[in-house]
Amino acid sequence: MVSPEASHFQSSPMAKYAGARARPVICFNDVVLFLGGAFMSLILVWSFFSFSNSPNLTFSADKTDGSTKCTRGIDMRYDPTDPVFYDDPDLSYTIEKPVKNWDEKRKRWLELHPSFIPGSENRTVMITGSQSGPCKNPIGDHLLLRFFKNKVDYCRIHGHDIFYSNALLHPKMKSFWAKLPAVKAAMIAHPEAEWIWWVDSDALFTDMDFTPPFHRYRNHNLVVHGWPGVVYDDRSWTALNAGVFLIRNCQWSMELIDTWTSMGPVSPDFAKWGEIQRSIFKDKLFPESDDQTALIYLLFKHKEVYYPKIYLEGEYYFEGYWLEIVPGLANITERYLEMEREDATLRRRHAEKVSERYAAFREERFLRGESGGKGSKRRPFVTHFTGCQPCSGDHNTMYDGDTCWNGMIKAINFADNQVMRRYGFVHSDLGKTSPLQPVPFDYPDEPW
Ligand SMILES: *[C@@H]1O[C@H](CO)[C@@H](O)[C@H](O)[C@H]1NC(C)=O
Ligand SMILES: *[C@@H]1O[C@H](CO)[C@@H](O)[C@H](O)[C@H]1NC(C)=O
Repeated sequence: MVSPEASHFQSSPMAKYAGARARPVICFNDVVLFLGGAFMSLILVWSFFSFSNSPNLTFSADKTDGSTKCTRGIDMRYDPTDPVFYDDPDLSYTIEKPVKNWDEKRKRWLELHPSFIPGSENRTVMITGSQSGPCKNPIGDHLLLRFFKNKVDYCRIHGHDIFYSNALLHPKMKSFWAKLPAVKAAMIAHPEAEWIWWVDSDALFTDMDFTPPFHRYRNHNLVVHGWPGVVYDDRSWTALNAGVFLIRNCQWSMELIDTWTSMGPVSPDFAKWGEIQRSIFKDKLFPESDDQTALIYLLFKHKEVYYPKIYLEGEYYFEGYWLEIVPGLANITERYLEMEREDATLRRRHAEKVSERYAAFREERFLRGESGGKGSKRRPFVTHFTGCQPCSGDHNTMYDGDTCWNGMIKAINFADNQVMRRYGFVHSDLGKTSPLQPVPFDYPDEPW
């Protein structure tokens, strides 16, 4: 429904284009040379080639609904005794053991649980998480709680389930690698979901109305914010951002996770992968292999395999860089109030459950075809506090810590205002978290 075809093609502000030009040649032998004796990863990459056709699972969903999240009529007490993949002792949730024939297994499960079929087409489960111990930054846990509340709010408004992972699922898969075991486990735990949406703990929804244009991704299995030119020409490790992604719950994704993981800390070739990544993506800041560069590497090195299935979304803030977003929030607030002054429909009080109806109205009446992104006064969809490290407090030395923390509070309150309006309250000032101000009837037509 709400899916503006916004268009802005700014590159990541973190990018320092190294300027090194090279043909984006896909040559498997290069990998062999780089690796020397590193066969394990090779085998994984190779096995990936051999069975990477991914039939999207399609079911005859209830067309009259057409929504991504039909929760009506789901039978949560019905689980027939017919054996499914859960009954197979050899099927493992861990990243060490590949899952095979996942499409068939998932399909069988759905067929045995027909109440989940309507709405399964784009059904999405959100996964996020943070470290298992207390934050070193004294306000870190508080900030993470608020970031999480924001995701819970977004999911409640749009009918998505959400899961928080705060323990390592593999002892070696730490920090940015921890998401892969969590995503794989979630795929198995949620056969009813077509998409798993990973969102980093330091990213938040700053447009509570917007929903991703799933129709655009129907032939793709992974969606990340990124720019093909920066992958293939500029060869930068910031060509995409792996902090937020949608991954289809299918065999292709299972195999991607295996291949991706083979460049991670579980691999005996972990150190070599770091060198390989740095040799190609010269602006990479640190020596060890990271999940983001690993994904860019796959796109770069095996374009014909991955590029057709990985959607690099650059037309709206699928995730956006906080420093270019936060300064504009006050103007955006003003603009949205202006829309509400202009049209009484937007001022009408309503139940939170029917928020999508008003979102669609605003889209149609005021935002149709409008490009979002840098300099735009359209609400940014996801704001990512890249480099701020709210939990550890070890932010990039480029910024002053207070810029990070104040920016977060502002963005969180900006998003929270969109939620709290439905509860009758707003933050009177984006810098002020509490107390909230009751909203007058017919606000903002009737002033404070
Ligand atoms: C759901 O998915 C189908 C097929 O991928 C697509 O055609 C449809 O537009 C999607 N629905 C929404 C609400 O995006
Ligand atoms: C906000 O809007 C004003 C008036 O249009 C403009 O002068 C100012 O540059 C804008 N600020 C930002 C940060 O976009």
